Amino acid sequence: MNANNFPHIYLAPLRGLTGAIFRATYAQFFQGIDGAVAPFLTTIEGTRIKAGQLKELLPENNRDMPVVPQILSKTAERFIVLAKALFDLGYETVNWNLGCPFARVAQKKRGSGLLPHPDLVQAFLDKTLAAIPNRLSIKTRLGRRHADEILALMPIFNAYPIQELIIHPRTGEQMYTGTPDLVRFAQCLDLSKRPVVYNGDINTREDFEKLRHRFPAVSGWMIGRGVLGDPFLPAAIKGLSECNGNRIDQFRHFHDTLYERYAQVRHGPAHLVDSMKGYWTYFAAFFPDGERILKQVRKAHGVDQYRQVVNAFFDRASNPTACSAGC
Ligand SMILES: Cc1cc2nc3c(=O)[nH]c(=O)nc-3n(C[C@H](O)[C@H](O)[C@H](O)COP(=O)(O)O)c2cc1C
Repeated sequence: MNANNFPHIYLAPLRGLTGAIFRATYAQFFQGIDGAVAPFLTTIEGTRIKAGQLKELLPENNRDMPVVPQILSKTAERFIVLAKALFDLGYETVNWNLGCPFARVAQKKRGSGLLPHPDLVQAFLDKTLAAIPNRLSIKTRLGRRHADEILALMPIFNAYPIQELIIHPRTGEQMYTGTPDLVRFAQCLDLSKRPVVYNGDINTREDFEKLRHRFPAVSGWMIGRGVLGDPFLPAAIKGLSECNGNRIDQFRHFHDTLYERYAQVRHGPAHLVDSMKGYWTYFAAFFPDGERILKQVRKAHGVDQYRQVVNAFFDRASNPTACSAGC
């Protein structure tokens, strides 16, 4: 909670979705997010930083929402090089991705693939925190295969000056299936000497209220898919009124701005439409007939058809709806 008794809400990193363009556009249209963890950057061999690697994190692309960069790496030396380049841009903290569930990542002992190896996690933290003291936060899952793998890691996390521990209470193998393991999360919260941020399946204000009631010791809340499925959700959680008019029109204006900004940077119409299709996988949840528009968007070929389908949908949907903030 901050001085106003507001919960601290982070936008979760969603690779391909919550990049700099999304974050800036979101901040222009909606309230309630206090900051974001950016989708991960990967490290490469040696001390060279690839041209363009830092583009997403350049301060001029991130003026509208405070952001913590995230790095996916198992090699302390490479992590430190990239972290220092990010500090040179003005960032105070970097986040270590210790949760990526994808098999091809985990097989190489990166992301959630490191969770069954407390010795490797400890060696990484030893080297990294000697080089960047007090400047690391961690985003993790409960384990790779088993939810109790984290119990061997908690004493290690406690032994280092980690700024914040963000826990998504699933295993890597679960990906996004099943329900978050709140019993195991409670155990981690009890064990942690560091501030703990909860992340996972907050899709409504009621979801949030239940979790806040159950876990008053949590220092912050991270929401990903729930923000894409209802961009008004963070404001609703904070009781901020966002009813400046019609919610559908506001969503449409947000969508159109996002589209225009992607149109300026995507190489070719196919990439542009693919990017927008990725958003609709989640945007669809906002609309009562979301499944229908999702099907139509997925079938759209080219920008003309995409614009036609989406414009027709927004024209039809543009009726006032009740505000989830309760006003
Ligand atoms: C498409 C997609 C991309 C993701 N990319 C990242 C990422 O780059 N870094 C990360 O730590 N987590 C990533 N995640 C996991 C989310 O940050 C978050 O932990 C997960 O979606 C659960 O939170 P939610 O239920 O609020 O969405 C990704 C998830 C999805 C669905």
